[in-house]
Amino acid sequence: MSESKTNTLWGGRFAAGPDALMAAINASIGFDRRLYACDIAGSRAHAAMLADCGIISEEDAAAIGQGLDTILQEIESGDFEFSAALEDIHMNIEARLADLIGPAAGRLHTARSRNDQVATDLRLWVRDAIDGLDADLKDLQSALLDKAEAHADTLMPGFTHLQSAQPVTYGHHMLAYVAMVGRDRARLSDARTRVNESPLGAAALAGTSFPVDRAQTAAALGFDRPMANSLDAVSARDFALEFLAACAICATHLSRLAEEIVVWSSAQFGFVGLSDSFSTGSSIMPQKRNPDAAELVRAKAGRIVGALTGLAVVMKGLPLAYSKDMQEDKEPVFDAADNLAVCIRAMTGMIGEMTVNEDRLLAAASAGFATATDLADWLVRELGLPFRDAHRATGALVRLAEERGVELAGLTLEQMQTVEPRVTGAVFDVLSVQYSVASRTSFGGTAPDNVRAAAVAARAALAARSGR
Ligand code: ARG
Repeated sequence: MSESKTNTLWGGRFAAGPDALMAAINASIGFDRRLYACDIAGSRAHAAMLADCGIISEEDAAAIGQGLDTILQEIESGDFEFSAALEDIHMNIEARLADLIGPAAGRLHTARSRNDQVATDLRLWVRDAIDGLDADLKDLQSALLDKAEAHADTLMPGFTHLQSAQPVTYGHHMLAYVAMVGRDRARLSDARTRVNESPLGAAALAGTSFPVDRAQTAAALGFDRPMANSLDAVSARDFALEFLAACAICATHLSRLAEEIVVWSSAQFGFVGLSDSFSTGSSIMPQKRNPDAAELVRAKAGRIVGALTGLAVVMKGLPLAYSKDMQEDKEPVFDAADNLAVCIRAMTGMIGEMTVNEDRLLAAASAGFATATDLADWLVRELGLPFRDAHRATGALVRLAEERGVELAGLTLEQMQTVEPRVTGAVFDVLSVQYSVASRTSFGGTAPDNVRAAAVAARAALAARSGR
């Protein structure tokens, strides 16, 4: 048994202090200190409400408010001494408040528990994180849109199975990510509506006998409403899971773009060039320019999905209401939020500074029989062939071209007619990649005019959906 003193905040019924290992496993101050500003905001709102409801005196509430201001300054200037013996941010702040203002500090915890306090703090923190990520994602959309507008006419191969499929435009490809990121923002914003409810005043689990005004503290903290059930208020962590799920999906989106950057920037593809600021050299191979930032964005999706999985497993099977297991909610939330923010910003930087090699893209777009579908469509449209027959005939023409070592447009009309005698010279019009792309005018298609219109619409939507 350790010789240390019992905890001054809850040690009333304890004769001895915790074992050193108990302190090591129990203390969360090493990571939950990041909640300090949220904790102080929650305590200020709570103290003001207690005074307004006649539960504590105005003088005590004023002393508490001033003490909390001092503590905020101390923490922000690095002068605050955090103590592991005081377990967590809540007790560190409350103990310091007692040093500063004496017995009035002991009244702050009236009609409150650390259970509703920590749930409140984490909701405030996640709400801020969502707003920060939303702003970062908006910047990424804007960088992608810049490229989409600049490259509405730039041809590139579109892939399926990473095999040349049909030509598309680079701008169209960028707009696909604008749409994906738009859904990521919508998911975060939707999660925010459920994050933004106040657990404060639920107390330990059952509510309180004091005449508190939960609507007042909810409003003071910018929450939409107090949570309706005290047990739920202290037990719920689905807000954190939902946040992590939205982060995980966003991270998988970023990892796909990252993977494309890795592939595209390789010497073999040569589609894009990475800037010095977002690539690294090799210590042994002088020719190298490695896409480390993209690789790390690709990798961090694993870590962020891990945060979601980790917290989901922590929460699984937990009985209501609070259990100390739930202290394990914070690190995955912080880690995912931090890493996602870095990934988004790095991606914005990479996209903005990346050069696009239009010649290489055009050459690649023109190779690999990329207009075979256009040829099949022509056989359907001009000769009235059923699509399946047109597909078969085109397949035979591709084989012929392959045997001759030419692209489809390199076949002569006579050669084509050996496969389908009714083919005319007009077919050559549809075999160019420029024609192929320009003809894809269906809604959502890759034609440059579509891309330009879609970029205008996306730009307008971006401006309309300004941050909170
Ligand atoms: N540090 C704790 C946490 O993060 C605060 C809540 C403690 N509540 C309790 N009943 N022990 O969850």
